[in-house]
Amino acid sequence: MAGTKQKITVPTIRQKKGCEKIVAVTAYDYPTTLFADAAGVDMILVGDSLGMVLLGYPTTLPVTMEEMLHHTKACARAKPRALLVVDMPYLSYQITVEDAVRNAGRFLQEGGAEAVKLEGGEPVAETIHRLVSLGIPVLAHLGMTPQSVHAFGGHRVQGKGDEAAKRLIEDAHIVEQAGAFAVVLELIPSALAKEITGQINIPTIGIGAGPSCDGQIQVLHDLVGLVPGVPFKHTKRYAHVGETITEALRQYAQEVRSGQFPTEEQAF
Ligand code: KIV
Repeated sequence: MAGTKQKITVPTIRQKKGCEKIVAVTAYDYPTTLFADAAGVDMILVGDSLGMVLLGYPTTLPVTMEEMLHHTKACARAKPRALLVVDMPYLSYQITVEDAVRNAGRFLQEGGAEAVKLEGGEPVAETIHRLVSLGIPVLAHLGMTPQSVHAFGGHRVQGKGDEAAKRLIEDAHIVEQAGAFAVVLELIPSALAKEITGQINIPTIGIGAGPSCDGQIQVLHDLVGLVPGVPFKHTKRYAHVGETITEALRQYAQEVRSGQFPTEEQAF
């Protein structure tokens, strides 16, 4: 599929609102980017969730610019048809707007990303505005923003109750006005996600935010069972790749030990 259809760009994503659901997924390396692109997804996010999923950190907070750049470059080498977005890691955009410009610029210049994602509403509005004014497309992220996990006391549903819902709606308008081309809504009640989706003119991309968003994003490793443990409530297992790998390697170990592998067929 990759290469046969037109490249997905930021305007393509924006134009899908109200016409067609947007399909987004994470990828952290060259092969998974190729697989996701072959499946025809619209957007690939090099998420800082790679810190937890790939690198074994307890949260996304320890992930560095260099780690994100390393993975972004690998994904970009797959030359996906999908829009390639990268997460700005913790402290790469919160301290000064100048830092944010320099770091976002590195993702486009060195990493080969086509847009950046950053977490937060009103406190990062000026940063979003500055990046967008410099030609760096920004995907916003509201709700359960994992870089604030300690403030939230865990990965908890956000926007419950009238006050919290009102603040999220305000933040959605703020990031739209600041110039974000779309906004991820993570772990918020479905009714609130529907309300926000109806109120703003940029696409909402949900994860644990119900079916009314303009699109959905999921962590690829969750979808295909490439992480240990029980899946989160907001995800769905479409495959059990981890189990397939373990079973294949069990068979390999058994064949090596029994002398069934290699045979002359694999020899020179
Ligand atoms: O880091 C990530 O993977 C994300 C998405 C799941 C939205 O932020």
